[in-house]
Amino acid sequence: LANGVARTPPMGWNSWNHFFCNIDERTVKATADALVSTGLAALGYKYVNIDDCWAERDRDWKGNLRAKSSTFPSGIKALADYVHARGLKLGIYSDSGYTTCSKTMPGSLGHEDQDARTFAEWGVDYLKYDNCYHDGSKPQQRGEEDPARWAGRFGNAWRTTGDIKDNWDSITLIADSNNVWGRFAGPGRWNDPDMLEVGNGGMSLEEYQSHFSIWAVMKAPLLIGCDIRAVRRETLHILGNKELIEINQDPLGVQARKIRSRSGLEVWAGPLSKKRLVVVLWNRSGSSAPISVGWREIGLSPFSKVIVRDVWTHSFVSKGTRFRLTAHVAPHACKVYVFTPL
Ligand code: DGJ
Repeated sequence: LANGVARTPPMGWNSWNHFFCNIDERTVKATADALVSTGLAALGYKYVNIDDCWAERDRDWKGNLRAKSSTFPSGIKALADYVHARGLKLGIYSDSGYTTCSKTMPGSLGHEDQDARTFAEWGVDYLKYDNCYHDGSKPQQRGEEDPARWAGRFGNAWRTTGDIKDNWDSITLIADSNNVWGRFAGPGRWNDPDMLEVGNGGMSLEEYQSHFSIWAVMKAPLLIGCDIRAVRRETLHILGNKELIEINQDPLGVQARKIRSRSGLEVWAGPLSKKRLVVVLWNRSGSSAPISVGWREIGLSPFSKVIVRDVWTHSFVSKGTRFRLTAHVAPHACKVYVFTPL
């Protein structure tokens, strides 16, 4: 959507993957503070997004949504002010149906304009619009059926898959499903393979690195889904990889794609601005293996001179003509390289 926002994929945090319905204003405020104190905000993570379960079960007598008084006693406007005062932005959640997926609060069905006005009055900057318990109206109106094909006219990002889970099978499956829709992504319109699980404890560090790397090069919204009030150093090391964030936020906005896969050894690649390329060697198999990519495969002439940089070790791998790059990759790990023409 050409509305001037999300020219690069949105970055921030969302409450769902870690807190589910156990979310309150104290946690949201402390999360905003933590985004700033950890340095994540300065790296671009600016949206603080409240997911499901933030509202009272019933609307007020005018039909307005209202924040749940037991968990958000100060109201959403106050929360928006708090977040804005820290240079961040506030996101909220609703649903196109009668109730949201949790069934704990109303959906926006029949109240679309009213709710949009409410959110705007509160100073909300971002809306996630879910799709549970709808009335069976046309999918384009509520967000089902290959949204990549049409949702870019209505929103800045759309989900391409079911809900992510904090495990390896989930992220590999989702990566493949999201990969199919690559050509529909671009500045202002992004495929969303769901929010990050990095730091939630269900995967190894290699797996989390792969998860973050693939999401970054697929130009996914980078919405942190862990508890950053208590974030661990290893998690910050992944989420705070500046070079990968720069790849995700590259102004060209082209989603990298899987270009080869054999026995779980994969090559993903895509163009970046300034004639650069990003290349990922991803080992989905259960044992260490060499993965190799030839210049021709990624669209370079065999004699092209390039500088290759490893964005996880933050070091240059080679200079000049090499025709081909090979790396030994640990099981479930990946290597991410930026190719810059000389
Ligand atoms: C389904 C969505 O896919 C999730 O991300 C989350 O928003 C839940 N609904 C909330 O009920």
